[in-house]
Amino acid sequence: MATASGPRDATARAAGYAASAGSAGLGDYHRDEVAACMRCGLRPGCRAPVPGEGDAGAALMLVGEAPGYREEREGRPFRGAGGDLLDELLAGIGLDRGSVFLTNALKCRPPGNRDAHPAELRGCEPHLYRQVALVRPRVVCAMGNVATKLLTGRPEGVARARGHARPAVIAGVPVTLLPVFHPAAALHAPALQAALREDFARIPELLARAGHRPAPGPVPPPEAPPVAPAAATPAPVPPPRPAAEQLGLF
Ligand code: URA
Repeated sequence: MATASGPRDATARAAGYAASAGSAGLGDYHRDEVAACMRCGLRPGCRAPVPGEGDAGAALMLVGEAPGYREEREGRPFRGAGGDLLDELLAGIGLDRGSVFLTNALKCRPPGNRDAHPAELRGCEPHLYRQVALVRPRVVCAMGNVATKLLTGRPEGVARARGHARPAVIAGVPVTLLPVFHPAAALHAPALQAALREDFARIPELLARAGHRPAPGPVPPPEAPPVAPAAATPAPVPPPRPAAEQLGLF
């Protein structure tokens, strides 16, 4: 589902949210503005908005589409199998939910987990832009079609855009924007999952290039001597198939 607007439109829409970013913290913003928001028709049918979670000063922000049933009940984004895959991908690059900021394009769950409507995305996007203005990430990862179209401001879907890191200014914040497949879409499609893993593996380099230096971790133990000679030759990795695009999946 597209938000058919050009890149200039996206920047202009986001620009207004930079100015007052310093006036309140992220938690206050979520409590005072997101919880009470009636900008689209979703709030009355939604148990509670899911604004997002993580480090309010994270260098990496990840944006999905919308909370689903479990997310709404638990008040946390990305639960269930898709969330487990996301946790695994983050762990693979030395991160976790506490060291990134994780949110969605929509903060309220659409009934029956249907696709987000354009008017709902327009209504909710000020919250995302304000979050960017407050967190000031260096890298923003758009997960799936909806977040990709919203944040690039372009009609190309994620199948085309994925893996192409690009400079962007969102809510006045200069970031590197990286579109990737949505973890839920990648769960049952090995080719998409391989592409998602490949794209996540690039994030540390993008963060470093954007000037972010990770906090020093624990000192690694001295290397143990090899126990046994390596036996197996790694299986060849099949190249990602273009089927993702044909399927129109995220
Ligand atoms: N899908 C999303 O895009 N976000 C969630 O929080 C859960 C599922």
